[in-house]
Amino acid sequence: MNYIAPSILSADFARLGEEIEMLNRSAADLIHVDVMDGVFVPNISFGFPIMEPLKKLARKPLDVHLMITDPIRYVERFCDAGAWCVGFHLEAVEDPMPALELIRKKGVKTCLTINPDIAVERLLPYLDKVDIVMLMSVFAGFGGQKFIPETLDKVRLLRKEIDARGLKTWIEVDGGVNKDNAPLLWKSGADILVAGSSVFRSTYPEETILELKQ
Ligand code: DX5
Ligand code: ZN
Repeated sequence: MNYIAPSILSADFARLGEEIEMLNRSAADLIHVDVMDGVFVPNISFGFPIMEPLKKLARKPLDVHLMITDPIRYVERFCDAGAWCVGFHLEAVEDPMPALELIRKKGVKTCLTINPDIAVERLLPYLDKVDIVMLMSVFAGFGGQKFIPETLDKVRLLRKEIDARGLKTWIEVDGGVNKDNAPLLWKSGADILVAGSSVFRSTYPEETILELKQ
């Protein structure tokens, strides 16, 4: 599948309602919500308060990406706040299973993600335990960074492994996605692409979303 998940981290917060309306009208499939705690990553974005307007206004499922330490403390609250999927970083926990279990019990989709310096092989034991595996194609913490091309090989490796095991696990890629690398990512076997600045810095964001899907 070719799903696009615009990241509202790059939205204009002074016009958040309009930005969400634009996404509702657009061909976007999900809305990516980047939560940063200033500890796991050197930046602070937003937390629970943003979930309220999003839940009220968004007609697309909310794909929550937790860039926080100790995610187990907060995953249930994000589920209750209206997340469609809750994801956290494998390198932020000793054992991801307890937090994954809490999310699953809430009936919410699970996602495990890794930064570019974490070996992709570390995701392999969890391919049958999550709904989504997400590769960071930039270091988590900021929008607008440059795509790391080595991500393509990692997507191929995951695609091969998921298909060989007959799994339905989705592959998501997050960071620096644009019109140039999106076709390569789809070809390599990605299912969901997160796009922040390429969508919200575009003159015609709705068209850009459509183009990214090709
Ligand atoms: C980075 C975030 C990304 C980011 C994507 O820490 O997890 O989701 O907002 O933004 P772009 O597409 O601008 O790299
Ligand atoms: Zn993200």
